[in-house]
Amino acid sequence: MPQRAPLQLSHDEMQALGAQALKLVIHHFETNRENPVAVTLPRAQTERMLRTALPEQATPVRELVDILARDVFPNALKSDHPRFYAFVPSPTNFVSVIGDLLISGHNLFAGHWMAASAAGQIEINVIDWLNELVGFPKEGGGILVSGGSMANLSAIAAARESRLGGPNEKAIVYCSDQTHSSMAKGLRILGFRPGQKRTIATDHGLRLSIPALEAAIAEDRAAGRLPFCVVANGGTTNTGAVDPLGPLADVCAREKLWLHVDGAYGAAAVITERGRAALAGMERADSITLDPHKWLFQPYELGCLLVRDASVLQQAFRVEDEDHADYLEDVTRHVQHDVNFYECGVQLTRSFKALKLWLSMRAFGLGEFRRAIESGFEMADHAERTLRAAGTWEVVTPSQMGVVTFRWRDATKTDAQIDAITRETVDLMREDGYALVMSTALNGRAVLRLCPINPATNTGEIEETIARLGRFSAAVGADV
Ligand SMILES: Cc1ncc(COP(=O)(O)O)c(C=O)c1O
Repeated sequence: MPQRAPLQLSHDEMQALGAQALKLVIHHFETNRENPVAVTLPRAQTERMLRTALPEQATPVRELVDILARDVFPNALKSDHPRFYAFVPSPTNFVSVIGDLLISGHNLFAGHWMAASAAGQIEINVIDWLNELVGFPKEGGGILVSGGSMANLSAIAAARESRLGGPNEKAIVYCSDQTHSSMAKGLRILGFRPGQKRTIATDHGLRLSIPALEAAIAEDRAAGRLPFCVVANGGTTNTGAVDPLGPLADVCAREKLWLHVDGAYGAAAVITERGRAALAGMERADSITLDPHKWLFQPYELGCLLVRDASVLQQAFRVEDEDHADYLEDVTRHVQHDVNFYECGVQLTRSFKALKLWLSMRAFGLGEFRRAIESGFEMADHAERTLRAAGTWEVVTPSQMGVVTFRWRDATKTDAQIDAITRETVDLMREDGYALVMSTALNGRAVLRLCPINPATNTGEIEETIARLGRFSAAVGADV
């Protein structure tokens, strides 16, 4: 018998393992709703359950998959659960999950054209679809990345290179007080000092205030600083608020500033009528972050940076001449019109992430995605109606982009006591396990927040969640 090469499975072993794994995933899809939405174990317990020594010896893989099924997958926050209303949920779809299997099963290197020309064509195609959806011109381009944090960082790197030719200690970026923290992180990584990020106040709707922005720009120019980029929100994570994108585009045009729209969460809603109206003006941006792993129902990780002018990415990320990797010379020698994605972003080695989005968009058609996003809008509307009808809640921000925020109403309590009730209600809801609801802070006060964008969510679940929240808040309120 010839010895088997290392790390190889026989046909039958592959079939058996594949069947076991597929069964597990299908079971997850079919029973997700019946399982607890959120389980977090203490570290001591996970150590006991899962810590093992460096494995010199083999373990039958069937047993390992059983461990995953029993001890790992159930003990998590299920962001694809129909009653996961916290943060930004990530409901997926089975076609894209199989897409992920095909991606890693074939392991195409999607860093340059020579390695994966047809895959590259699919990525170009997917980027073009997204550009068409957001209303960017034909010259637009983009790159698929891990998520919104990487897309935001890459956007600022491109903006800085394009507008300033590189780092400049006088450069100023404007964000609102609702901008996602990934922007501050990206700026720090790119070498911006804290004073180079201006936080602009928001108006009563938690949208970036144009007068405050204009005043800050004028002040910075007068002080000899270099305003160069405005970051707008295409749906804030906190409340779903969309900054005034049209007026912001006017300011940026007048002041010759780069406009980046962080639509990591919200930009995909542009495929619906309601989203398109809310995001009007986004098409005038220079760059947009849009995460398919948020509101385009893709499994992690899939973020995307779109740019109005494709050439800015190469300008920012292409390593020229003497710094170019010698061993990549054969790759670039003949490339003219083709795209080397490693020259358009941070990563050299990158997976064929486009596959899952391409596969699911083609398999379902855009109409199905549109219906899925509309369902999120409707569930948030239903939550708002239910909260108002209950009479015990103050709706702090109305349903917008699938998010609603609210606060327990009790005239006998102080604001600080209501804050305490809000936080305890979150804890009780988490212990209860029916749904996952988290709080956030708005204008210094704690509020509850629902983001019911999973298309499998139904109105009965929204009502039951709000009823339970009410019972918990009332019970906590009796003791505060
Ligand atoms: C508006 C916004 N921007 C950026 C991010 C960061 O995205 P990621 O977690 O994919 O890095 C998020 C995450 O929720 C977000 O909601």
